[in-house]
Amino acid sequence: MPVINRFADLHHEIAGWRRDIHEHPELLYDVHRTAGLVADRLKDFGVDEIVTGIGRTGVVGVIKGSNDTSGKVIGMRADMDALPIMEETGQDWASKTPGVMHACGHDGHTAMLLGAAKYLSETRRFDGTVVVIFQPAEEGGAGGKAMVDDGMMDRFGIQEVYGMHNMPGLPVGQFAIRPGPMMASADLIEIEIDGLGGHAARPHECVDTVVVASHIIQGLQTITSRNVNPLESAVVSVTMMQAGNAFNVIPPRASLKGTVRTLKAEVRDLVEKRISDMVERLAGAFGARATVTYKRMYPVTSNHEVQTGTAVEIAREVSGTASVNDDAPPVMGGEDFSFMLNARPGAFIFMGNGNTAGVHHPEYDFNDEAIPVGCSYWANLAEKRMPL
Ligand code: NI
Repeated sequence: MPVINRFADLHHEIAGWRRDIHEHPELLYDVHRTAGLVADRLKDFGVDEIVTGIGRTGVVGVIKGSNDTSGKVIGMRADMDALPIMEETGQDWASKTPGVMHACGHDGHTAMLLGAAKYLSETRRFDGTVVVIFQPAEEGGAGGKAMVDDGMMDRFGIQEVYGMHNMPGLPVGQFAIRPGPMMASADLIEIEIDGLGGHAARPHECVDTVVVASHIIQGLQTITSRNVNPLESAVVSVTMMQAGNAFNVIPPRASLKGTVRTLKAEVRDLVEKRISDMVERLAGAFGARATVTYKRMYPVTSNHEVQTGTAVEIAREVSGTASVNDDAPPVMGGEDFSFMLNARPGAFIFMGNGNTAGVHHPEYDFNDEAIPVGCSYWANLAEKRMPL
């Protein structure tokens, strides 16, 4: 079965929701309008139960199949939040809120899951229950964790959970997935360096925190090149450096921020330990003091074997065997669907967004041509995983 015909009829309507959400982007947990729109649509579709305010502003809808002898309950998740980026797409439906835009396609994810909810509420050709999950705060706020911590999995009896993200550069109609680690853990490092400030012309009387910071930055680069097994993956990026505010003053303080990405728990532990050892000792070697705060943000998004097999099978039903890469390389970006995958077995799949700007770019826009593909994936997942 290729793309479901019904989604050709609904395409225009779903694209309309998508563009409406795109015009009104909201950040993190402040997705009140979007969550309201989602709850209103679900009500229109006649889903069996709608619960708002899960994980602060998350929305959950329950759709029962025409039969429920299997007792199966499948969760399908979309994210609703936008990014603090000034939009430069020039589209008619561009953001009406300056400095905020849907630059990661969560508008499309939400609209596609709504489309699938509409279809599944109409047809109910499955034996079991579908739980549609609309989460806030994917972009750094751990909204997925908030929903899990709010007891969502137990409350709705979710047994398996599936997620989807669009991928620019992958043609529309194609999917990419792999079992095991699919996206990296994403952690935050903050380093504070204390030295001794003074006149820039008298460095011998100072402990120059700019020089210490530069050695620390260099040193951190050796963790990936000298400490992590070359067959494993890790990223250490220092992305913010703040020190001083005059050309002729050696600043007494400097601060660095950055991020660490890994695909395995052991590698994550190793990198964390090496950073704290190295920063304190390097600073000490120069007579300065440094402290590291290592914040574990998102865990590795790791796909479960059986559910990945299901996802591959469904994607092939929709797009054909040649259009599904079941051995896609992992991505070092983070994703808070990882919290849901740590709570229940499931799989996260990438779906082609075609030749668009990359996610988090001011010219990025979700590709509405992908809507029937994504909707068909969700609908097929319910009908094939829980057949009548
Ligand atoms: Ni995203």
